[in-house]
Amino acid sequence: MAKVIKRKLKIKWKNFIIFTLIILFVILTIIKCSQIVLIKIKNAIDHNIEEKEEPKTKKTEKSKLDQLDNIDKKISYFRKENIDRYIAYKEENRELDIKKVIINVNIGLDKKVYEDAVPATNLNKNNILVNKYNYLDDKYVPKNLEKVSTVYALSNMKLVEKAKEAYEEMAKDASKNKLKLVILSSYRSYDYQVDLYNRYAKKDGKDKADTYSGRPGFSEHQTGLAIDIYNGKTPYTKFESTKEFDWMQDNAYKYGFILRFPKGKELETGYQYESWHYRYVGNDIAKEIHNKDICFEEYMAMQ
Ligand code: DAL
Ligand code: ZN
Repeated sequence: MAKVIKRKLKIKWKNFIIFTLIILFVILTIIKCSQIVLIKIKNAIDHNIEEKEEPKTKKTEKSKLDQLDNIDKKISYFRKENIDRYIAYKEENRELDIKKVIINVNIGLDKKVYEDAVPATNLNKNNILVNKYNYLDDKYVPKNLEKVSTVYALSNMKLVEKAKEAYEEMAKDASKNKLKLVILSSYRSYDYQVDLYNRYAKKDGKDKADTYSGRPGFSEHQTGLAIDIYNGKTPYTKFESTKEFDWMQDNAYKYGFILRFPKGKELETGYQYESWHYRYVGNDIAKEIHNKDICFEEYMAMQ
């Protein structure tokens, strides 16, 4: 009898252990499954958030580009970092063609002259740009300054070597046509410009002086690549009325020179028309500026 009871108990005990193990297995499986499900839900939520955020920025950019007539696909000089400035400038200048909006903002016309200016880049290169938005520091002296021959210049006129050589060749060729070119101002140091600008500001007031004279650091005469010329008799301010001017109009670009402050480009250059001020930029740039009938600021804004 006792043996039978003992056997029954053994079976019950065995069943209990099996049952417990099954329950444990089921519980562990449920926990594991829940963990997997929870991770999946979390990933799905994160993914969903990312997906929602990304199209939003894409959508904003798309709508901004739509506002700009998707001009980014048609021109190489669209600068993505300027996108908000393009939109603001377009709003304020509704009459302007979209390409002109892009060019003007690239020049910096939506910024404050002098105050928002940045240090000039391309130092000692043909394409150095110095204007009311790009300045040179007081220590900047160009490399390879040389004196221009007094056959074609007043005494002590210095230019960067390549500009000097190009100028002398140009003046020599002009003389073959019985025309005379004489430099009356070329490289000017920062300190020289301080005196000159102060004199002009005292005479005409700052506002007027700013229309025809570079403030110290803002004059491209400091690059050693700019010249003021006349024909040796007519005052330089009347250079436009001379045969030499007509010749320069047709030929200066062949020697790498451009008329730096042309008529009708006062907004872009920031200065009044100056028929006597030329700038050496090298043959390739000069030719492109001549062919497109643009000013140097526009050329640089389209790079
Ligand atoms: N006359 C030009 C603008 C200059 O001073 O640089
Ligand atoms: Zn000048």
